[in-house]
Amino acid sequence: MKIIRIIKEMKAVARELKSEGKTIGFVPTMGYLHEGHISLVKKSVQMADVAIVSIFVNPTQFGPREDFKEYPRDIKRDLEILEREGVDFVFFPDENEMYPNGYKTYIEVHDLDKKLCGRSRPGHFKGVCTVVLKLFNIVDPDMAFFGQKDAQQAIILKKMIEDLDLDVRLHVLPIVRDKDGLALSSRNEYLNPEERKAALVLRRSLQKAKEMIKEGERKVPRIIQRMMEIIGKEPLARVDYVEIVDLDELNSPDIIEKRDTLIALAVFMGKTRLIDNMMVKIKNREVKFME
Ligand code: PAJ
Repeated sequence: MKIIRIIKEMKAVARELKSEGKTIGFVPTMGYLHEGHISLVKKSVQMADVAIVSIFVNPTQFGPREDFKEYPRDIKRDLEILEREGVDFVFFPDENEMYPNGYKTYIEVHDLDKKLCGRSRPGHFKGVCTVVLKLFNIVDPDMAFFGQKDAQQAIILKKMIEDLDLDVRLHVLPIVRDKDGLALSSRNEYLNPEERKAALVLRRSLQKAKEMIKEGERKVPRIIQRMMEIIGKEPLARVDYVEIVDLDELNSPDIIEKRDTLIALAVFMGKTRLIDNMMVKIKNREVKFME
């Protein structure tokens, strides 16, 4: 496994691989890897000729009062994991390499970036799109792997790829969870034992929604109300949002119909903001859940 810290070098490697006719699979990450990241890496190693992973805690996607400085980092451990998984190249640039003095260009996917997480994290998706487009330009992947854990991120990046005619195929993989159901996240690290226990309320509220939909409930306000009640009973939890939206515009319907639907929520546990979601697909009479 080779570690590359310089954009020019990464581009030269990508160019070389392409000239040899090799396909490149790419997993962008901010490091502090867990089984969620690893599921993407495994898929990339399996599907592409060459697997490239990037590790970069991207400052432009953090708000001024957010956790950029405290974001957990452990490069040594990350590299051990990636080596073990059979990754070929790790792109690990520093901040100045990605955003040198005088950097000015940003990518925005309008409207979608103002909804759900975008409402309480203004500028977040602008930072994500900017860094991901830069990484795509540097790594030149044929396929890129993202997690449904950050469903809105995947939806926005899909739109960016479509709108900007990028030649990368995006694969979105299921949410990996801890044994007790909590979605894995680098930010779970911030939770104290009480908060960690209380954090199960996100999953519990989604399970309630699933149960209601299975029993035939289709009215969005009713489902949301039940989810809010469940979260409301957990004293350590403070709701940021609970929403049911379509996958194209992220607008909220009154009833869940045939369109694919996303049930998404963000909840503060103390200072830590956690997200989780579930996808609902209704075809004929059959209801499928991706969670
Ligand atoms: P990061 O939070 O490190 O996540 C990297 C990738 O891992 C994302 O695609 C995310 O959705 C996926 N992931 C995280 N937790 C997961 C879980 N429990 N199950 C499955 N997949 C999971 O997302 C980012 O970094 C950044 O925004 C990035 C795209 C790298 C741009 O900076």
